[in-house]
This record gives sequence, C-alpha cells and structure tokens, in this order.
Amino acid sequence: MDRLKISGGNPLKGTVQISGAKNAALPCLAASLLATSDISLVNLPAVEDIRIMISVLKSLGCEVSTKESEDKLELTATISTGNLGKCELIAPYELVKKMRASILVLGPLLARFGMASVSLPGGCAIGSRPVNLHLSALEQMGATISIDGGYVQATVPNKELQGIDHTFEKVSVGATEHLLMTACLARGTTILRNAAMEPEIGDLARMLQKMGAEITGIDSPILTINGLSELGGCQHTVISDRIEAGTFMCALAIAGGDIVLERVEPENLRPLIEVLKLSGCKIDETNGSNKQLRISRDPDKTLTARDVVTAPYPGFPTDLQAQVMAVMTQANGTSIIKENIFENRFQHAMELERLGANLKLDGRLAYVSGPTPLSGCTVMATDLRASAALVIAGLVAKGEVFVDRIYHLDRGYAGIERKLQSLGANVHRVKGGRV
Ligand code: UD1
Repeated sequence: MDRLKISGGNPLKGTVQISGAKNAALPCLAASLLATSDISLVNLPAVEDIRIMISVLKSLGCEVSTKESEDKLELTATISTGNLGKCELIAPYELVKKMRASILVLGPLLARFGMASVSLPGGCAIGSRPVNLHLSALEQMGATISIDGGYVQATVPNKELQGIDHTFEKVSVGATEHLLMTACLARGTTILRNAAMEPEIGDLARMLQKMGAEITGIDSPILTINGLSELGGCQHTVISDRIEAGTFMCALAIAGGDIVLERVEPENLRPLIEVLKLSGCKIDETNGSNKQLRISRDPDKTLTARDVVTAPYPGFPTDLQAQVMAVMTQANGTSIIKENIFENRFQHAMELERLGANLKLDGRLAYVSGPTPLSGCTVMATDLRASAALVIAGLVAKGEVFVDRIYHLDRGYAGIERKLQSLGANVHRVKGGRV
C-alpha cells in the first residue's frame, strides 16, 4: 500500500492549477442516467471516486469512454445510456461500499425505468451517514421501497414518479442532489424546500438545464422543478474544486510562502478566506476570466488562533475542518473548532496529537492550542480530508512524517504530491510502503 513521506520546513512558492470538483462531478455522472442522448463531461478530476462512479454506470449498462489529459490529472467522459434498461438495473455492493455517492443513481433509474436495485452504502468513518432523507422523499414521489439482502429495492407501481412539495427535515447535500435530478423526470412540479445550497448543487442544476430541465431557484434553499418526459444530452464542464483549493490554502498557511491558485472560484471559499485572513495570511483575489487567488504568509510571523464552526453552505465547510485544525496547531492561542455536520469527524485529531499537537476533544468541540512544534513520525490516514490534514501538518514537522493508507487521499485529490512538489514541498510517494 502506498504511503507519503514528507520532510517539512520548505515555504511554498509557485502556481498550482485546481482540478474539477469531485463532489460536483459525482452527481453530474449520476445525472447522465437521465439523458436519452450522449453526455460529455469535461474537467473531471482523475481520482478514484470518479473511476468508481464510472464503473457503477458501466455496471448498469451505460457505455462510457474516457480520455485522460496529458498530465493525467483530468478526465473527459462521454456517457451513452443507449443500452440502459436492457439488463438488470443493479448497483452492486462491491462498488457502492467503496463510494457512498453511488446511491445517487437510484432516483434517476426509478424516474426513467420505474425500478432499480442499489446496495445500501453501509457504515462510514466520519459518522453514521444514513440515506433516510433520500428514501423517504422518493417514497413520497410514489416509489415503493424495501431493504432486502442489503439492497434498496425500489419500484414505481404507477410507472411514473409524481412531483411533490417537500421540505427536507435536515439540510443534506446528497438528498438535495438526488431529489433535484429525479424530479426532472417526474410528473408535474416538485418544490424542494430547505434544500442545500452548496456550489456543487448549482453546478448539477446548470448541467440539468443544459439537458433541457426546467429548474428555478438555483443557489437558493427553494428549488422548483417542472418535470418533463425526456431529457437530452449535453456537454458540461464541472466547476473547480473549492475543497482542493482550500486544502492548498491551508498548506500555504501552515508552511508560509507565496502561491497562486489558478482556476478557483474565490466566492465559494469565503468562510476559509475570512478565517485565514484573520489568522495572518494575505489573500488577493482576481476575478477575471482566469480566476486566481494569491495567498501568502511570512514564515517568520506566527498565525493567530481563530474559532471555526462548520455549517451547511455558505457556512464553513466540514470538508475543510480537518485541514484548518492542522493550521491551528501552529497558531498563537486556543482555537475552538465545532463540527456540526458529522458526529465522528475528529479522527485526524488523534493522529495530529501523535505529531505533537496540543488538542483536547469534548464531543463536537476540539480545543487546539498552539503554536506547538510538530515532529516526524508515522501517522495513519482515516478518511479523505483527515489524510489531507496530516499531509499539511507534515509540511511544518521536524524530521520525516510518513502518512500511511493514502488510498483515502487518492479517492479525492488528483496528484496532490505532484502539485505540492511543484510548489517546493518535499513530499514523495513511497510505493507499496507498509500499512
Ligand atoms: C456531501 C459531500 C461530503 C460533505 C457533505 C457535507 C459529496 C459526494 N459528499 O456528503 O464531502 O462532507 O456533503 O457537506 O458531495 N443525513 C441524514 N440522512 C440522510 C442524509 C444525510 O441524517 O438521508 C445527515 C448526515 O448524516 C450528516 C448531514 O445529514 O450528518 C449532512 O450530510 P449530507 O449533506 O447528506 O452529506 P453527503 O451528501 O453524504
């Protein structure tokens, strides 16, 4: 199993291109199941989660051709659903267990073919992550759902899903995406209230519009969808990955230096920009056609501790909580970090402590006191963003840090070690290292 070896101490310098957003690409791939003609998706990050979703589409009967960019960081995929429905519509456990977002294929299949069988995703390292909000809304639309042999077995007795006026009891990114795409092929109008507003949902909605869908209220908490009997193909370029961009910003904040991020949407990074500016980083935004963000910090100046509370968009993203915690280990004072979205998302804290961080956990609160010198040892990645936090911490540790189990990192970051190397960091992949 691969591991990363990091020798800290180098300030970062240079320019890095941000990849397409994994969390936008995944629902866009699922939405291609709704189209009767070809869908072409551009700017997909070449990461494991995307490959798994493509395998799910293939297992259902789609023809998918992919092309990798020269630098192997980006994929273009063309999806044809011509053969869909000719064999059984089953998304198998072997694929779904590897990638929870596979559940998003259920609604589109139901909307088009009136039946589907999708494995229940099962447990997850960062919390229980149920799919009850997805399933109960599909039931309201007229689906009959049962759990049998670990699979969600769903049919639409009347062959056609019905539009609903639905208020989500909790804000959920996945449930909003799932119902948004499903409603595009339901009979009548669907109103989704208390919808999540993450930029990735706006991106999905814009792709659906290109396919012919009638959607209003994009980027607001109330989405209105006028269902149609058919959707066509389109070409769509997915938005840039705000979490990858945020991860590089945190890397700079901890290591110091001066870097430019290219192909970013600073508007989508507002809460992190505020925290890092108040902590002592300098951030300039250029909002021209080539969207850039420049971030710098004098390595000799100490950061100041800031509190962080995660919340649905436009709040501080839970997917940047681990990375900002790593940054706060180097800040002067005590930072209180509150994780409001997932109940078990502090597993990186124990690993940061192994590097020397001064942390106290109390339920959903983490108290991070600093600055504390970090020193090299072996740490274990437990989930995607936790892995990123450990890599970032390694950039300031004395001695060598080994991050084990980086398959988590490969699920969501395209060439992270190559990109960090290009900024001057001493980060290397050790092939087949120990677990
Ligand atoms: C998505 C992102 C993930 C991010 C998360 C929150 C993708 C592929 N993943 O995950 O990276 O961390 O949003 O921004 O885009 N919940 C329920 N019942 C449900 C669904 C969710 O109780 O049916 C709860 C979850 O357990 C969690 C909260 O709602 O506590 C938010 O989860 P949700 O927004 O659905 O996250 P995902 O869509 O799974």
